[in-house]
Amino acid sequence: MTALSVLGNTAAGLPRQDATWWRQAVVYQIYPRSFADSNGDGIGDLPGITGKVGYLRELGVDAVWLSPFYPSALADGGYDVDDYRDVDPRIGTLAQFDELLAALHAAGIRVIVDIVPNHTSNRHVWFQEALASPPGSRARERYVFRPGLGEHGELPPSDWTSTFGGPAWEPVGDGEWYLHLFAPEQPDLNWADDEVRQEFLTTLKFWADRGVDGFRIDVAHALAKDLTEPLPSQADLEADIWGGAHPLEDRDEVHDIYRDWRRLFDQYDPPRTAVAEAWVPAHRRSRYASPEGLGQAFNFDLLEAQWDATGFASIIDKNLELAHESGASSTWVLSNHDVVRHATRYALPDGTDLDAWLRHDGTEPAPDEERGRRRARAATLLTLALPGSAYLYQGEELGLPEVADLPAEALQDPTFLRSGGAQKGRDGCRVPLPWASHGPTLGFGDELAHLPVPADFDRFAVESQEVDPGSTLAFYRRALAERRRLQTAETLDWLTGTPTTVVAFTRPGGWTSVTNFGSEPVPLPAGQVIVSSSPLTGQDVPAETTVWLWQDGLRDR
Ligand code: NOJ
Ligand code: CA
Repeated sequence: MTALSVLGNTAAGLPRQDATWWRQAVVYQIYPRSFADSNGDGIGDLPGITGKVGYLRELGVDAVWLSPFYPSALADGGYDVDDYRDVDPRIGTLAQFDELLAALHAAGIRVIVDIVPNHTSNRHVWFQEALASPPGSRARERYVFRPGLGEHGELPPSDWTSTFGGPAWEPVGDGEWYLHLFAPEQPDLNWADDEVRQEFLTTLKFWADRGVDGFRIDVAHALAKDLTEPLPSQADLEADIWGGAHPLEDRDEVHDIYRDWRRLFDQYDPPRTAVAEAWVPAHRRSRYASPEGLGQAFNFDLLEAQWDATGFASIIDKNLELAHESGASSTWVLSNHDVVRHATRYALPDGTDLDAWLRHDGTEPAPDEERGRRRARAATLLTLALPGSAYLYQGEELGLPEVADLPAEALQDPTFLRSGGAQKGRDGCRVPLPWASHGPTLGFGDELAHLPVPADFDRFAVESQEVDPGSTLAFYRRALAERRRLQTAETLDWLTGTPTTVVAFTRPGGWTSVTNFGSEPVPLPAGQVIVSSSPLTGQDVPAETTVWLWQDGLRDR
């Protein structure tokens, strides 16, 4: 290991020992297999990302979050991890990881890696050992094995269903079944087991010692489970009767695990950070985000929000308050690798059933692409104006839409098969990025990509957007550069007396963000415009537009 990677954040390009860098960071999520392909095999890889560090620096992000790059059979896009302390050979090597880390750090960009603690893959050495060992053995204690019901254990221990469809229990042929809240290739770990706890501390230390700055924690709400018999029914699990004592989710004792992790994180200088992927009600989110715990938690409220000023304003208000309560900063997410891209969500009529729309290959209702782009840019500029950190998903800076018409044979998401085609799945937001305007792969390697890049993605190519000052890419670069200059204290003051279609607030330093959600222009407050999500022609904020401006009388510093 080089001195550079041991010292991590002291590498050239990063401020020394800044323990608060994460609070208002712009974090760019990379789904490595679909970002950039360096060797032309159609699979994005770590050297591909290293080759794009200049692109990331120019974009102006503070950190990247790498979705799993570990060895995996890709039963769930890499969230089925065979080995937590290695790199999938199709994606790179540990040495190439160190090179990427050093290159990002030298460019002033921090690195967050994805930790998947709820389940391993079924190819993990522990699970293989469990399968080769008899019921009651030590190897099986690391997972959740239970005897089946029925005379010969031929029935599952309960009627629980998995997130991706189908039963949550899989038989292993000797009367025992194992629990998998996700795909059968993702057996759940038993977090009551000490060795499991120690193993993850070792993994976190492994990456933290290499110089990784933070961690994104997958399914952070489900590690602690109460599997006391008799097991409840699926109907009971879904009933609103559990408070903080649901058998599988959001149990209070999950925070004991994160307190241990925090002790480890705080041994580093600066402390390593973490963000919880916890699908819990908003009022329980702050527990994950507390300074004694992971420190930050995703707020997914905007992923589910309609295009509506009142809805946005109340989500903003509530989340700023929750973040304040927990001592964390808020997080803002409009897109990620699990949801329909926001340029497409906003292109569809409000209230569209996205699953049904995907199922019909995105034909009906037809997306209004122009409207989607306009709203997406306005929503992005609004979230970038907020206190807290913004998590961007690769490709949103190009305005990429969801690819809804991927052929069935190309689909990789286990939800598609396990739901018998009822759910199309998440592949449509995981299509590789178009780097070039020409060629069969649009600059993503030489061979056809692992998920086909639609020919009409040439319209979104980085190559052409880089030279077009009106492009979405140019807009993101501008907005991120301005944000970097403007972000100060984590507070805002709502502007009162604005129309109901408007969300407007001022930030410390004297700048204002105004979003017009309506279809008619509204008056532009007096002041000097800093950046706007769509072109301004007069003294109005046009429909579906966000504008940042200096308050009247205050000038650019
Ligand atoms: C959440 C991840 O974001 C998603 O992609 C994955 O399928 C599940 N967790 C299971 O690991
Ligand atoms: Ca490759």
